[in-house]
Amino acid sequence: MDITLAIERYNPETDAEPYVKEYTVSAKPTDRVLDALMEVWRNYDGTLTFRKSCAHGVCGSDAMRINGTERLACKTLVKDVVTDTETTIEIQPLKHLTVQRDLMVDQTPFLENFRSVKPFMHPAEAEPKAAEFFQSQEDREVFDDATKCINCQACFSACPVLDKNPEFLGPAAIVNAARFVFDSRDKGLEPRLAALDTPNGVWPCENHFQCTRVCPRGIKVTKLINLTKREIKKYRESRGEETAEPKE
Ligand code: SF4
Ligand code: FES
Repeated sequence: MDITLAIERYNPETDAEPYVKEYTVSAKPTDRVLDALMEVWRNYDGTLTFRKSCAHGVCGSDAMRINGTERLACKTLVKDVVTDTETTIEIQPLKHLTVQRDLMVDQTPFLENFRSVKPFMHPAEAEPKAAEFFQSQEDREVFDDATKCINCQACFSACPVLDKNPEFLGPAAIVNAARFVFDSRDKGLEPRLAALDTPNGVWPCENHFQCTRVCPRGIKVTKLINLTKREIKKYRESRGEETAEPKE
């Protein structure tokens, strides 16, 4: 079948504003949208710019908006986004990040937020009691969902709170904080409070669930944000501190 990719193009060095360019290519229904993009890049227009690496839903580099929804191009089949009567696929870059060129965005703010939650182990004890820091299967289960994040930025783009507050920490950073906050071997909340318990930390989340809807890893993102909020409230309670959410 023939499909048309209507791709939002933009080169900040030469274009006054973004524009849409259409490419019609031959594709099988079971081809991935990434295959169609590669076809354009190889045989129609080598200037088309986008990221991709693993092509198997692991690296998170090819998240983009496909027909208005954040998806991984390598995990989206053509048949999932065309119909018998509509064979045009609209492709746009992620939102909330500056376009460097075409579908490639500047990941810096996203990665700065990620780093700010210190997403690495702060051992609760200086030395393990045995040969290693032991963790039961039950304790591992508590944060298992949060380990699945591939930092694809789909949730960061889909989040309606970031439309109005670009300073919001964003869903993915909180998921990556939760991965350690709820790890029984880690110090938990304290090393991460400076990023999480601020007016632009966890609190702006309004439970729109768009992050959960678009996450290609099926992570219950909103639930993890709410669990982290609850953990902060418990922490404050334990110290006899105010538990109300801070206002901007
Ligand atoms: S939480 Fe899901 S959507 Fe957000 S960056 Fe991680 S994998 Fe991507
Ligand atoms: S190219 Fe790695 S997730 Fe799609």
